[in-house]
Amino acid sequence: MKIFITGGTTGIGFTLAKDYLEEGHTVGICGRDLSKLPIEYQNHVDLKSYQFSVTDKNAFRAALDNFALYKEKGLDIMIANAGISLGRKNRIPNFEKNRQILETNIWGTHFAFELALSYFLPAKSGQLVAISSVAGEVGLPGAGAYSASKACITKMCESLSIDLAAENISVTCIAPGFIDTPLTKTNDHSMPFIMSSKKASQLIRQAIAKKKVWVVFPCRMILLITLLKIMPRKLYHYIMKLPFLNYSRG
Ligand SMILES: NC(=O)c1ccc[n+]([C@@H]2O[C@H](COP(=O)([O-])OP(=O)(O)OC[C@H]3O[C@@H](n4cnc5c(N)ncnc54)[C@H](OP(=O)(O)O)[C@@H]3O)[C@@H](O)[C@H]2O)c1
Repeated sequence: MKIFITGGTTGIGFTLAKDYLEEGHTVGICGRDLSKLPIEYQNHVDLKSYQFSVTDKNAFRAALDNFALYKEKGLDIMIANAGISLGRKNRIPNFEKNRQILETNIWGTHFAFELALSYFLPAKSGQLVAISSVAGEVGLPGAGAYSASKACITKMCESLSIDLAAENISVTCIAPGFIDTPLTKTNDHSMPFIMSSKKASQLIRQAIAKKKVWVVFPCRMILLITLLKIMPRKLYHYIMKLPFLNYSRG
């Protein structure tokens, strides 16, 4: 299969790329800085890497068109994985940083889907995948833009999974809890049930293979996030302000 993964130089995207290569697939990845990619993968025959930002639609289109002609023609799976967050959370929003988060996470996913569909719709086959987050299920303090971006992605996938079914195109939305990657290295709040990117890649690849519509992991996070969603908002505020969680600060 031919699989394109946005943000494949580090973290979840890189682990997915590595695992798909081991399974014998042809993989395309992108990142703003390809020097982050481990040297042994920089000239891998089954891995095509492209340096551009997912917010640059023209550069994205040129790279995808190039990848679609590499080896066998076409594209089977698009994984919109590239995303950024804040690291250290602040009570007073940094609006410039928020703009970058919304632009990368929302428009990056939007462009990935739009460009992939230019291949999937004529072929009447293909799979769109988004790496959303459990952060999209609640408004996490200090991470309003990140939570909002992931809520947007989750809802967009939910709609598209219905809209595109008649075209034989499946949509899979993955909402992980905390994964140990460079993105979470700078977090200074508690990260319950944190998981390795190896385990996350295994769960994501399983969900993609089964064409699941919506997957949340780890299991304990499903329970926690459901409780946080349905509890009275006063209690949610109280919990999020607990000092040991280290979430709310100025
Ligand atoms: N780690 C977690 O706990 C966790 C939990 C839930 C969801 N997620 C989501 O999972 C996805 C991957 O996160 P991660 O933890 O693996 O983060 P990561 O290690 O920081 O990797 C992010 C990847 O995206 C790329 N990227 C970022 N902005 C980009 C842009 N504008 N254009 C192209 N590539 C870009 C990065 O490369 P460059 O910097 O070189 O561009 C890198 O390859 C994100 O969408 C994140 O929100 C992560």
